[in-house]
Amino acid sequence: MTTTLPGAVGTPLARLEGPEKVTGAARYAAEYRQDGIAYAWVVQSPVPRGRLNAVLADPTADALAVLWHGNAPRLEPADDPELAVLQSDRISYRGQPVALVVADTLEAARRAAQVLRLDITPEDHDARLRADHPGLYTPETVNPGFPAESAAGDVERALAAAPVTVDVTYSTPALHNNPMEPHATIARWNGDDLVLYDSNQHPSGVAETVAAVFGLEPAQVHVVTEHVGGGFGSKGTARPNAVLAALAARVVGRPVKLALPRQAMFSVVGHRTPTIQRVRLGAERDGTLTAIDHQAIGHTSRLFEFAEQTAVVTRHMYAAPNRRTGHRLVRLDMPTPRWMRAPGEAPGMVALECALDELAEALGLDPIELRVRNEPGAEPEGGTPFTSRHYVECLRAGAERFGWAGRDPRPRQRREGDWWIGTGVAGATYPTMAQPSTARARARADGGFEVAIGAADLGTGARTILTQIAADALGVPVERVRIRIGDSTLPKASVAGGSSGSASWGWAVTGACRRLRETGGDEATFDTTELVERQEKEGRHAFGAHFAEVRVDAVTGEVRVSRLFGMYAAGRILNPRTARSQFLGGMIMGMGMALHEEGVLDEAIGAWVNHDLAEYHIPAHADVESIDAAWLDERDEQINPMGSKGIGEIGIVGSPAAIVNAVWHATGVRVRDLPVRLDKLLTAWSQ
Ligand code: MOS
Repeated sequence: MTTTLPGAVGTPLARLEGPEKVTGAARYAAEYRQDGIAYAWVVQSPVPRGRLNAVLADPTADALAVLWHGNAPRLEPADDPELAVLQSDRISYRGQPVALVVADTLEAARRAAQVLRLDITPEDHDARLRADHPGLYTPETVNPGFPAESAAGDVERALAAAPVTVDVTYSTPALHNNPMEPHATIARWNGDDLVLYDSNQHPSGVAETVAAVFGLEPAQVHVVTEHVGGGFGSKGTARPNAVLAALAARVVGRPVKLALPRQAMFSVVGHRTPTIQRVRLGAERDGTLTAIDHQAIGHTSRLFEFAEQTAVVTRHMYAAPNRRTGHRLVRLDMPTPRWMRAPGEAPGMVALECALDELAEALGLDPIELRVRNEPGAEPEGGTPFTSRHYVECLRAGAERFGWAGRDPRPRQRREGDWWIGTGVAGATYPTMAQPSTARARARADGGFEVAIGAADLGTGARTILTQIAADALGVPVERVRIRIGDSTLPKASVAGGSSGSASWGWAVTGACRRLRETGGDEATFDTTELVERQEKEGRHAFGAHFAEVRVDAVTGEVRVSRLFGMYAAGRILNPRTARSQFLGGMIMGMGMALHEEGVLDEAIGAWVNHDLAEYHIPAHADVESIDAAWLDERDEQINPMGSKGIGEIGIVGSPAAIVNAVWHATGVRVRDLPVRLDKLLTAWSQ
């Protein structure tokens, strides 16, 4: 007879590695001691486009090696051209690694890098994304493989016939992933085998990619990723630091450490593309949408086509018989954009959800009511039923909790002292995904269990929730489970990205633990590949609603977010403590997107001039006043054995729009060019 234990899943278990982290015992990539370690410093291109003819090292500088394309070992071609480091004289963007200095100390490496002379032939460059750029083209697909365009019905005719329309253009700036731990790698060769201590979101993926670049078998590269101080997408694949460290270690015959300085991250590890988005909506007088058109423009680099899926979110949100979405890109002499928390959904929902707010104003209809009236019964494009969709419930329950009822819909009505006060709402959604993964469970002689999967914990609590999932699947208390993650030699796990980690790994862990329990053996493994591949991919999303209250200083234009609240329906919440932290983190990042964050481009030099955390502003503690998240008790058994959906990204989807809409409600000013800075409000006031 089996005893039924109270389940560990759903309890607020504290992060298992918390004590190690707060005592400094937890090791991050750059913190592994190595005998005879050498230090590398990246030399970045000072021009956005041109040819590097030669690198002249100062003979008085103390370097073990100065690597550049003229002397660096040849690499195999990589799928990601950013990893072909020091292989060509072509300079594709300012900040691109063009040389690497290796020395006995960090200081010596940096000093030698400072006195290097680069012989460069610069060329004319093109750095600014514009809606009328002649180089704009429609890519074949947008990430991670969606058609670039979609259409149904006749949008133009519906817009012409609609009694109420909105035609607005919103733009979002380049945004930069700034995990607390910058990208870092220690590389050590043991003969032809390579060990990398590397900060990333996907140890086995990094091992495979780096192996391919060096012409090795994947098993010859061992990636250790025990603790990660955040990634937000920028560590989803191997970044140039991993390849550079390995190259340098091979040349100097010693372990080499390369930790990117914060400033380098703004160009070397990816960013969120700036976007320009035009949204046109047509509606009946009762608010029923008849047409939705969402056209998005973004940039990519000369090296690599990265096509952010900005308008894809509009394919899933609201019913309308006539609809169109599209994406265009232009290749610029700029760094390659990459994934940044909710790539696509985060910028896309700014335009869609702010446009809806403008439509609500034009209709004289409550913005929540407008959304409720356009709730689709199934996927608006394609008609696949939703496995679960509690969007309307999030809007209603969120409104209740936030205190929406009785809101005066007119803008610029509430004034307290020098402050204009306003509230705003916006929807949230994120796709629910799972990716193939394998886990292994072992029974130990002491009655405990070891569960292993090559997952990465970015600080989110992955290690903790996997322990909870394993404990329940094994039918034992969490104390009897030891989880092993963060190593490419463990059973292969999918990337910690796309809000899919817990679902993907938890599924494999559940399978392995159940199998071990059923067979009664010493060891069991479970590979979810077939199950995941058989699964329907459409109609699976988490939903939510974001509510913001802001106050705007009538004299200075300063915007403060006095309240931010998120109500989610995201499947079963595996651990309320770590989940809440994920939701709040996303919402705070959304606040940054609405009000603070912006890569400021100097077109003349092709660079973001504010490439450090002194000038690239992110919300600090003082910016966050009252913030809270809550969720509905949703379980979705069709999704995976845990009934859980992803929660890592949904917090940043819609929260910026809720704030921007609240600023309008406070002031009567629609700022359509993010971030909402005080100078934009003041300019609007003085006109
Ligand atoms: Mo996230 S941007 O999918 O790591």
